[in-house]
Amino acid sequence: MLKIRILGSAAGGGFPQWNCNCENCHQAWQNSPNTQARTQSSLAVSVDADNWFLLNASPDIRQQIQQNPCLHPKKNKRHSPIKGVILTNADVDHIGGLLTLRESQPLSLYATKRVLNVLHTNSLFNILNPDYVIRRELLPDQKIELCFHDTQASGIEIETFPVPGKVALYLEDEKAGHNFGSIPEDTVGIKVSSINSGKSFYYLPGCAALPDDLGERINGSDLVFFDGTTWIDEEMIKTGCGIKTGQRMGHMCMDGENGSIHAFQRLDIKRKIFIHINNTNPVLLENSAERTIVKNAGWEIGYDTMEINL
Ligand code: MLT
Ligand code: MN
Ligand code: ZN
Repeated sequence: MLKIRILGSAAGGGFPQWNCNCENCHQAWQNSPNTQARTQSSLAVSVDADNWFLLNASPDIRQQIQQNPCLHPKKNKRHSPIKGVILTNADVDHIGGLLTLRESQPLSLYATKRVLNVLHTNSLFNILNPDYVIRRELLPDQKIELCFHDTQASGIEIETFPVPGKVALYLEDEKAGHNFGSIPEDTVGIKVSSINSGKSFYYLPGCAALPDDLGERINGSDLVFFDGTTWIDEEMIKTGCGIKTGQRMGHMCMDGENGSIHAFQRLDIKRKIFIHINNTNPVLLENSAERTIVKNAGWEIGYDTMEINL
């Protein structure tokens, strides 16, 4: 058994975003049947339906726990089915939820050295009491079995690998040249496997390009969750919501020659699901032409509480 739940299918800001009145958000604020609200980027995974690991911890985690009964406390006065968190980068939408996971609950926290360093250097994260929250380093291309806080084996294996991306927005160094001081460890993808069943999937919520070696890595897989931030690269600018392209933010758009739909066409992947979808992306509107194009290209649009069993 390998159970996956999408806790949050939106990019940073969620859908609708608190200060956004773009065409999409406007409809979402009106509760249009054409839209479905979405929380920020996170997945949960389990091999026994009792113990869960989170892939990223979004600032919406409290709402996400509420929306997913599998994550409710069940046993003692203090209990959580959440046994740990794996981080793919240090973006606010992926680490903000750690602050909600305080209250001296045993947890196992996994991230690259670079991302762990961000947590170490910001004293706010000391609220995660080190007596209860063990921080464990992920090395590139290393396969490890996830452990609970007490080193009990979980039956879940992960493999992390660098993907094209960018350092977190609040750490960008303008003086460091075109990539703002980004290093490969800033953004990773994860392969998650059930040790018992051998079933596996890939999770890449932030990915700026699909070079050949990355394509080869994920080719032939049963399931890939992929960065669906924008439809076109200029989307933030065209919708009047920002001044940056998707590429500038470390994301690959869906449409066009340089887009993910085109790049995945040469790959053989059973299920492809877009996640980390920005509120400006027209695929969020259920009657949009873009939504139809995505579906016809064999992709699914992830939604909150979506469950997949491999
Ligand atoms: C991103 O995915 O580009 C970031 O989450 C943006 C942000 O930090 O708000
Ligand atoms: Mn993000
Ligand atoms: Zn918006």
